[in-house]
Amino acid sequence: MDTFEQIAERERQFLLQTYNRYPIVLSRGKGVFLFAIEGKRYLDFVSGLGVNALGHAHPRIVKAIREQAAKLVHVSNLYYHEYQGPLAEKLCALSGLNRAFFSNSGTEAIEGSIKLARLAGHRAGGEAKSRLVALEGSYHGRTFGALSLTGQDKHRKGFEPLLEEVTFVKQNDLEGLRAAVNDDTCAIVLEPIFGEGGIFECSVEFLRECRALADRHKVALIFDEIQCGLGRTGTIFAFQSFGVTPDIVAIAKPIAAGLPLGAFIAKEEFASAISPGQHGTTFGGGPLACRVALEFLAIVEEEKLLENVNKVGAYLQQELKMVVEKRAAATGVRGRGFIQGIQLDIPARPIVDAGLAEGVLFNSTQDTVVRFLPPFLMEEKHIDKGIRVLKKLLGKKRKAT
Ligand SMILES: Cc1ncc(COP(=O)(O)O)c(C=O)c1O
Repeated sequence: MDTFEQIAERERQFLLQTYNRYPIVLSRGKGVFLFAIEGKRYLDFVSGLGVNALGHAHPRIVKAIREQAAKLVHVSNLYYHEYQGPLAEKLCALSGLNRAFFSNSGTEAIEGSIKLARLAGHRAGGEAKSRLVALEGSYHGRTFGALSLTGQDKHRKGFEPLLEEVTFVKQNDLEGLRAAVNDDTCAIVLEPIFGEGGIFECSVEFLRECRALADRHKVALIFDEIQCGLGRTGTIFAFQSFGVTPDIVAIAKPIAAGLPLGAFIAKEEFASAISPGQHGTTFGGGPLACRVALEFLAIVEEEKLLENVNKVGAYLQQELKMVVEKRAAATGVRGRGFIQGIQLDIPARPIVDAGLAEGVLFNSTQDTVVRFLPPFLMEEKHIDKGIRVLKKLLGKKRKAT
């Protein structure tokens, strides 16, 4: 077996250098734990960045993959197979929306969503109805359309020119929003909770105003729930936690338990704007990914995982608040359920680095936020371990006031 050094050196030589990886090589997982090649065990608060909601090697997922791999992995979208329709039906029933399209990734779900919004916009208001409104600080992915909607210079820099028709608004700025949306707008795109952007929630008032403006100007309200959706907030769609329904919702990450699958689901009045041949994908919505996604949704329901996210998520929040009370470097807690972040006033990456030695995988974002995206299976005893380690790594106690 290759050593860590051999594996890392080969990547240094032959991979495009786009990632700043942590110095461990993971080889297997079980439940909420991952194991490195030399056998060290890690408690996983990252879930493959929000993907492994069922933890690792869930027996029902392993069984579904085994069975389906032996039957049919791929057929192309030229033909029907048994699982795409039922998965679309299930997602429509859960969301209250009408039609789904399956992609391979979150970014592609965003691309498809804005293409659909453009078609619907042109149909409603002619070519001029093309403009997009997005939020400063947001993250929607790395392709040109999704990057054009991403409101962070650090991701955009070097790739301009991007789509020019995007107006950025500050999150929760009602006046700015009202000034940005007009009859030339075809879509408002937002994450109800910023993920990579540092776990900042849209206010219900802001989301309601988005809904009202979208209705007034015949605009597609698109929620990017790629990170916060599918159970992470304690409801199956994040929008159900906020009580505001979008016209199109984009999802991905956990949907096929680690196999690449994304989707967007649209209301009929927008979905009807597209015709055969106007959008497509070779891999998206294949039988293996769709069958596993059906199994994922069944497991979330049957194992009552949303209840666990709500219960243990509240516990996580309470414990993180205690960390803020007790540690000088921690200043605030944001988020809900199993999408939470603790704000530090020191760099977060060294905390994540040091977590490795303690056998815990944390994640940092926006330099000073430790982000928590645990598997939905996580229990209070696991939270206790993570909090113990976090407190130890944050060191200096807050002085009593
Ligand atoms: C909110 C959000 N949108 C879009 C994306 C892009 O998804 P993907 O990396 O699957 O293309 C991500 C990925 O982190 C995300 O968090």
